[in-house]
This record gives sequence, structure tokens and C-alpha cells, in this order.
Amino acid sequence: MSPWVRTIFGKIEGEVKVSVAVVGASGAVGREVVGLLERYDQVDLRVFGSERSAGTTLPWRGGDIAIELLTESDLSANNLVFMTATSELSSLFARKTASFGNYVIDNSSCFRMDPNVPLVIPEINFESIKTGDRLIANPNCCTIILLMAVAPLRKLGGIKRIIVSTYQSASGAGREAMDELEQSTKAALEGKEFEPTVLPHPYAFNLFSHNTPIDDSGYNGEETKIIAETRKILSDSEIGVNPTCIRVPILRAHSESITVEFEDFAPDEEAVRRVLRDFPGVRVVDDRDGNHFPMPVEASGQADVLVGRIRRDPSNPRAVSMFACGDQLLKGAALNAVQIADRLLGFS
Ligand SMILES: NC(=O)c1ccc[n+]([C@@H]2O[C@H](COP(=O)([O-])OP(=O)(O)OC[C@H]3O[C@@H](n4cnc5c(N)ncnc54)[C@H](OP(=O)(O)O)[C@@H]3O)[C@@H](O)[C@H]2O)c1
Repeated sequence: MSPWVRTIFGKIEGEVKVSVAVVGASGAVGREVVGLLERYDQVDLRVFGSERSAGTTLPWRGGDIAIELLTESDLSANNLVFMTATSELSSLFARKTASFGNYVIDNSSCFRMDPNVPLVIPEINFESIKTGDRLIANPNCCTIILLMAVAPLRKLGGIKRIIVSTYQSASGAGREAMDELEQSTKAALEGKEFEPTVLPHPYAFNLFSHNTPIDDSGYNGEETKIIAETRKILSDSEIGVNPTCIRVPILRAHSESITVEFEDFAPDEEAVRRVLRDFPGVRVVDDRDGNHFPMPVEASGQADVLVGRIRRDPSNPRAVSMFACGDQLLKGAALNAVQIADRLLGFS
């Protein structure tokens, strides 16, 4: 059993079974949720999809599990449901399923800013879940990676402002975007034409502003999510957040360049390293001599968010800059969701 999920469902004794459903199991996030659940005998799993994947199978405990076509009645019998499909599907199913007393962990953006739905990163604000809450929202992947690096710094002093630039991988846009990156890269290397159909711009050997619509403020949907979700998770409606979100031709794991400005505190680099090292789910990778800092290839497949390039901001005595990488399919989505379930059901 991998050490980073060793506690998940680990303390269920005997024959107790938990009926679990994953909706959108064939997708980039859903497959990771299934993979995390696979190791726990206690989970009695059903997986759901649309007509596109229904009838196909996923690997499950050395064999296969068939994806079922989702119908409304299918979900109500499950103790725990992971919604890993679309916001539209979540708006149709999540509340209703939770109203039967089942726990629903929703990976879409559908309920994240609903004041009655907790938005949770377990290491940071698990206590925002109140007794009786059944529907829990999983934050945006960039928000999770950002706050895993930033929240520990609150031990040092109040935070006034965060400036963040993201370098977001293809898998953040789902399996089809990963396929498009691979196919367009192959076509480019073979000197062939390639017409993108998933993302709005050529992806091979290119980068572009995040593919969510831009509003009147000039910020795109991904950026406005980071602003609003950061304020909700940190319970700080005043904190300044200025994001720039960029899609880069990387298959997996997002990277973020982060500057944190404190209220009235001049950060000491070693103190920053110390609070980050002490924070569960963060690994400091900060080797100046070896020029070894967080990289997406080293963050891929890992539970921890890697944080490094920790340095004082020469233009602002109250600010510190960092570089973070995290597997957004794991801590940025599936792992965070399974960790919420683990603690909600009292298994660890
Ligand atoms: N990718 C990330 O890094 C990431 C991070 C955080 C949150 N999220 C969120 O997680 C969710 C899933 O993202 P993803 O990247 O995994 O997307 P994806 O790879 O495109 O997968 C989407 C999944 O949704 C299923 N689906 C779509 N319409 C359906 C329907 N009508 N009925 C049943 N299943 C349906 C698809 O099943 P079929 O193949 O059968 O159609 C597929 O399994 C999204 O809400 C996304 O915003 C993603």
C-alpha cells in the first residue's frame, strides 16, 4: 500500500463495506479516484459514465469493473459518491443524492461558491464541514496547489496579498486535451498539419492564456475561481489575489510561481522553509547549489505539493517568492477528494 494513502479507509474493521460510486470514472480525475480506492477491500464500488464509456471497463483489483450508464436512481443507494464529470451533471445529481443522507464529494465548480457548501482542503480547513453536511466541494486544482504552499505561511504572520502565475498541464483540461497534446506534438515533429479541436490554440511547442472565457475585468474563469476560492477557503474576504493562468504543453502536474506579501512582517527564508517542511502534504525542494527545484516531472504521480525557489522579494521587504508544482489530478483533484471522504467517514 502506498504510504500516502495508507490511512484511507484503513481503520474499518472486519466485513464492513462502504458502497461507493464514481461518476465520470473514465475521465482523467475519475480514473485516479478509482485507482486510489482500489487498494481498500472495504470499498464496494460502482462506476458510471455516459453512453460514450458505458459498457467499457476499467482495471479494478486485478480484474475489470464495467462502467454503467448513469441514471438518476443509480446514485441514491451509495454511501459515498464522487462526482468527477461535468458541472451540469453535478447540478442534476449532487444535491439530490446528498439529500438521501449520502456523502457527495463534488469535483466540479458547480457548488464551490455556494455559501452552504463547504469548500475543503483537509489540511487547511476541514473544520469548515459542519455536522449534517453531506455535499462537499473539492476546490479548483490551481487553488489547491497554491494554498498548500501559501496557507502554512500564515503561521509566520498575516497575509495581505498573493500574486500567482500558473503553468498548467494538459490533463487539467481532461483526457481529450492530453490526447490532443500528444497527437499535435507527434504531428509537429513529423512536419504535418494539425487542427486543434479540444483547446483553442496550437498546443505543441506553444503556450497560451487559459482556455476559459474572459470577463469584463480582463480575468478569465480560471483566474476568477482562484481569487474567490482562496478567499472562501482562507475565510479572508479581504486578501488580495492576482492570478495569471497559462496553459503549457506539459501532460501532467501544474506549476505555479507565487509571491506572498505579508501584512507587516519581513519574512525570513529559513522560517518559511521550516513552516513548509512541517506542513503535511508539502515537500520542500529547494537546492540552490544543485539548481534543483520543483518540476512537473517530479511532482507527477506524487501526493505532495513540491515547493522551492524560496527567496525574499528584492522589490518588497514584506514579500517572499516561491515556485510550487503539484499533481493536479491527485492533490489537485482525486486525492484531495478521497482525503475528504476519509476524514468525513472517520476512517483515519
Ligand atoms: N482534470 C483536472 O485536473 C481537474 C482538476 C480539478 C477538478 N476537475 C474537475 O473534475 C471534473 C472531471 O474532469 P476531468 O478532467 O476528469 O474530465 P474528463 O477527462 O473530460 O472526464 C469527464 C468524465 O465525465 C463523464 N461524463 C461526461 N458527461 C457525462 C454524462 N452525461 N453522464 C455520465 N458521465 C459523463 C465522462 O464519461 P464518458 O467518457 O462516458 O462521457 C468522463 O468520464 C470536471 O468537473 C473538472 O472541472 C478536473
